[in-house]
Amino acid sequence: MQSSYFVRFFLCIASCLSVTRAFSMTVGTPTQCDDLTVSWTGGQAPFEILLAPSLEMYQNIPVPASAFSNGKGSYSIPQLSLQIGALFVLTMSDATGFGSGGTTTQLTVGNPVANNKCNTTAASPPYTFNLTPLPLTQCG
Ligand SMILES: *[C@@H]1O[C@H](CO)[C@@H](O)[C@H](O)[C@H]1NC(C)=O
Repeated sequence: MQSSYFVRFFLCIASCLSVTRAFSMTVGTPTQCDDLTVSWTGGQAPFEILLAPSLEMYQNIPVPASAFSNGKGSYSIPQLSLQIGALFVLTMSDATGFGSGGTTTQLTVGNPVANNKCNTTAASPPYTFNLTPLPLTQCG
Protein backbone atom coordinates (compact mmCIF):
# COMPACT_ATOMS: atom_id res chain seq x y z
CA MET A 1 0.00 0.00 0.00
CA GLN A 2 2.68 2.40 1.12
CA SER A 3 4.84 1.69 -1.91
CA SER A 4 2.01 2.25 -4.41
CA TYR A 5 1.53 5.73 -2.96
CA PHE A 6 5.19 6.40 -3.57
CA VAL A 7 4.94 5.16 -7.13
CA ARG A 8 1.96 7.39 -7.82
CA PHE A 9 3.67 10.33 -6.18
CA PHE A 10 6.71 9.98 -8.42
CA LEU A 11 4.64 9.39 -11.54
CA CYS A 12 2.80 12.62 -10.81
CA ILE A 13 6.05 14.53 -10.27
CA ALA A 14 7.45 13.16 -13.51
CA SER A 15 4.37 14.00 -15.58
CA CYS A 16 3.97 17.44 -14.02
CA LEU A 17 7.58 18.28 -14.81
CA SER A 18 7.25 17.15 -18.38
CA VAL A 19 4.12 19.26 -18.82
CA THR A 20 5.76 22.42 -17.52
CA ARG A 21 9.08 21.90 -19.26
CA ALA A 22 8.36 20.55 -22.70
CA PHE A 23 7.15 22.67 -25.57
CA SER A 24 6.18 21.63 -29.02
CA MET A 25 7.49 22.73 -32.39
CA THR A 26 6.54 22.44 -36.03
CA VAL A 27 9.15 22.58 -38.78
CA GLY A 28 8.42 23.57 -42.39
CA THR A 29 9.70 21.79 -45.49
CA PRO A 30 13.48 22.15 -45.77
CA THR A 31 14.80 23.13 -49.20
CA GLN A 32 18.32 24.14 -50.20
CA CYS A 33 19.17 27.82 -49.59
CA ASP A 34 15.54 28.70 -48.76
CA ASP A 35 14.30 30.00 -45.44
CA LEU A 36 13.13 27.26 -43.07
CA THR A 37 10.36 28.22 -40.68
CA VAL A 38 10.14 26.76 -37.19
CA SER A 39 7.02 27.49 -35.11
CA TRP A 40 6.42 26.53 -31.51
CA THR A 41 4.17 27.04 -28.53
CA GLY A 42 5.34 27.30 -24.95
CA GLY A 43 8.86 27.25 -23.59
CA GLN A 44 10.99 29.98 -22.12
CA ALA A 45 13.33 32.35 -23.95
CA PRO A 46 16.13 32.28 -24.92
CA PHE A 47 15.56 29.64 -27.61
CA GLU A 48 18.16 27.93 -29.73
CA ILE A 49 17.97 25.71 -32.79
CA LEU A 50 20.52 23.03 -33.57
CA LEU A 51 20.81 21.55 -37.06
CA ALA A 52 22.62 18.22 -37.03
CA PRO A 53 23.33 17.03 -40.59
CA SER A 54 24.48 13.47 -41.13
CA LEU A 55 28.32 13.25 -41.26
CA GLU A 56 28.72 17.03 -41.21
CA MET A 57 29.37 19.70 -38.61
CA TYR A 58 26.31 20.77 -36.67
CA GLN A 59 25.00 24.34 -36.89
CA ASN A 60 23.88 26.28 -33.84
CA ILE A 61 21.30 28.94 -34.59
CA PRO A 62 20.36 31.38 -31.84
CA VAL A 63 16.74 32.56 -32.03
CA PRO A 64 16.22 36.31 -31.55
CA ALA A 65 14.00 37.30 -28.61
CA SER A 66 11.64 39.07 -31.01
CA ALA A 67 10.61 35.67 -32.45
CA PHE A 68 8.63 34.79 -29.30
CA SER A 69 5.64 36.52 -27.72
CA ASN A 70 2.49 35.53 -25.81
CA GLY A 71 3.64 31.93 -25.51
CA LYS A 72 4.05 31.47 -29.26
CA GLY A 73 7.13 31.59 -31.41
CA SER A 74 8.02 31.58 -35.07
CA TYR A 75 11.43 31.96 -36.63
CA SER A 76 12.71 31.54 -40.16
CA ILE A 77 16.24 30.24 -40.44
CA PRO A 78 17.57 32.35 -43.31
CA GLN A 79 18.86 30.43 -46.34
CA LEU A 80 19.30 26.89 -45.07
CA SER A 81 22.92 26.14 -45.98
CA LEU A 82 22.51 22.41 -46.60
CA GLN A 83 22.72 20.67 -49.97
CA ILE A 84 19.85 18.98 -51.78
CA GLY A 85 19.55 15.45 -50.43
CA ALA A 86 21.31 16.22 -47.14
CA LEU A 87 19.83 14.35 -44.19
CA PHE A 88 19.53 16.12 -40.86
CA VAL A 89 17.61 16.41 -37.62
CA LEU A 90 16.62 19.67 -35.95
CA THR A 91 16.60 20.03 -32.18
CA MET A 92 15.11 22.96 -30.33
CA SER A 93 16.10 24.09 -26.87
CA ASP A 94 14.90 26.76 -24.47
CA ALA A 95 16.12 28.26 -21.19
CA THR A 96 15.33 25.03 -19.30
CA GLY A 97 17.90 22.98 -21.17
CA PHE A 98 19.06 21.21 -24.28
CA GLY A 99 16.46 19.49 -26.42
CA SER A 100 13.48 20.68 -24.37
CA GLY A 101 11.48 21.30 -27.57
CA GLY A 102 12.28 17.88 -28.95
CA THR A 103 14.02 16.62 -32.05
CA THR A 104 12.46 16.07 -35.46
CA THR A 105 12.51 12.79 -37.29
CA GLN A 106 15.16 12.66 -40.02
CA LEU A 107 14.52 15.38 -42.60
CA THR A 108 15.78 15.56 -46.19
CA VAL A 109 16.71 18.81 -47.91
CA GLY A 110 14.65 19.29 -51.07
CA ASN A 111 15.14 21.23 -54.31
CA PRO A 112 15.37 25.00 -53.95
CA VAL A 113 12.14 26.93 -54.48
CA ALA A 114 13.54 30.45 -54.66
CA ASN A 115 16.77 30.81 -56.62
CA ASN A 116 18.90 31.93 -53.69
CA LYS A 117 22.62 31.40 -53.75
CA CYS A 118 24.14 30.22 -50.52
CA ASN A 119 27.23 28.35 -49.41
CA THR A 120 26.32 24.69 -48.87
CA THR A 121 29.91 23.50 -48.46
CA ALA A 122 30.18 21.86 -45.07
CA ALA A 123 32.85 23.21 -42.76
CA SER A 124 35.59 20.69 -41.92
CA PRO A 125 35.48 19.36 -38.38
CA PRO A 126 38.55 20.14 -36.24
CA TYR A 127 38.96 16.40 -35.59
CA THR A 128 37.23 13.14 -36.49
CA PHE A 129 36.33 10.01 -34.53
CA ASN A 130 35.20 6.43 -35.13
CA LEU A 131 32.69 4.17 -33.45
CA THR A 132 33.56 0.51 -32.97
CA PRO A 133 32.32 -2.11 -33.28
CA LEU A 134 29.92 -1.50 -36.14
CA PRO A 135 27.14 -2.28 -36.52
CA LEU A 136 26.07 -1.06 -33.10
CA THR A 137 24.29 -3.71 -31.05
CA GLN A 138 21.46 -3.32 -28.60
CA CYS A 139 22.78 -3.05 -25.02
CA GLY A 140 26.30 -3.60 -26.36
C1 LIG B 1 31.85 28.07 -47.81
O1 LIG B 1 31.90 27.46 -46.56
C2 LIG B 1 33.07 26.71 -46.33
C3 LIG B 1 32.91 26.01 -45.00
O2 LIG B 1 32.56 26.88 -43.97
C4 LIG B 1 34.27 27.63 -46.37
O3 LIG B 1 35.44 26.88 -46.15
C5 LIG B 1 34.32 28.35 -47.69
O4 LIG B 1 35.38 29.28 -47.68
C6 LIG B 1 33.02 29.05 -47.99
N1 LIG B 1 33.03 29.56 -49.33
C7 LIG B 1 32.69 30.81 -49.61
C8 LIG B 1 32.73 31.20 -51.04
O5 LIG B 1 32.36 31.62 -48.73
